[in-house]
Amino acid sequence: MDAVIEQRLASEVPLVGQVSGYIVAAGGKRLRPALLLLMCGALECGHEQRLNLAAVVEFIHTATLLHDDVVDESTLRRGRPTANQAFGNPASVLVGDFLYSRAFQMMVLAQNMRVMQVLSEATNVIAEGEVQQLVNMHDASLTEAQYLYVIRSKTAKLFEASARLAAILAGSDEATEASCAQYGQALGTAFQIIDDVLDYDGEVAQMGKNLGDDLREGKVTLPLIVAMERSAAQERALIAHAIEEGGTDQLDAIMAIVRRTGAIDTTRLLAASEAERAIAALSGLPDNAHRQALIDLAAQLLVRRA
Ligand code: IPE
Ligand code: IPE
Ligand code: MG
Ligand code: MG
Ligand code: MG
Repeated sequence: MDAVIEQRLASEVPLVGQVSGYIVAAGGKRLRPALLLLMCGALECGHEQRLNLAAVVEFIHTATLLHDDVVDESTLRRGRPTANQAFGNPASVLVGDFLYSRAFQMMVLAQNMRVMQVLSEATNVIAEGEVQQLVNMHDASLTEAQYLYVIRSKTAKLFEASARLAAILAGSDEATEASCAQYGQALGTAFQIIDDVLDYDGEVAQMGKNLGDDLREGKVTLPLIVAMERSAAQERALIAHAIEEGGTDQLDAIMAIVRRTGAIDTTRLLAASEAERAIAALSGLPDNAHRQALIDLAAQLLVRRA
């Protein structure tokens, strides 16, 4: 899959290769292609398009990261300065567009209308989720339901698509395809919830990203929603003020409230119930080593530090 990625990054314009090579070479967990390929394994599918489509979902993911770091004004990704930091916002946005459109060129090679349907819908929903999140910025009254809508769109949808594509390549029946999609959706939801926990409770050196990015931009995530529910009026006002103003002046004070109110633990519990839901969705699949790896993946994700 990495060989496919490298081959498909080719462009006549050197800056494309410089920026895309910079972020791809920095690594990343390659989780979405792993999900697609493990699901193919679980379904005992060796379709020749599977590495191509695995690279497609990683390209789409990489494009969203290039754009995300511009939008979030982030400075650290995969343990190095973000591409926008190293090459500037215009190069990041435009090379993100290159990767998106390259992914579309590659998915056409599968010559399968369902594949194109799933991926075109996923990319559209991701964009919608990011726009909704932008609208939700600085809103201290954001609810858990509104939060969940955003993360299902911006993050879980690509996990769902990755798992569903495996079922499409395998020629699975409708019920099996729905189970695979459900696994991906629940896993992706758990994954983003943990990402949001790590933004308050992680280690920069392990994550390769800065802590406090979400609060700095006035983004409300579940740890903050729970902390606000659990705190007294004065602390609630402090959090609301920080959400409305953004910035990191109050980050230490707010991290202390988040931890003391047990908001981290409660948020982790919600991630755990999504991981359970993911595992339950696999019950009808063949019992093999790949299915077991998918079960382990859902469990490991809850204790990840990176
Ligand atoms: C980061 O995704 C963006 C989120 C959806 C939280 P990953 O944590 O999968 O990023 P890499 O690819 O491993 O760097
Ligand atoms: C990322 O959410 C979602 C997408 C890339 C679409 P975040 O903004 O929380 O991701 P990180 O923390 O920057 O990786
Ligand atoms: Mg971000
Ligand atoms: Mg973001
Ligand atoms: Mg994050």
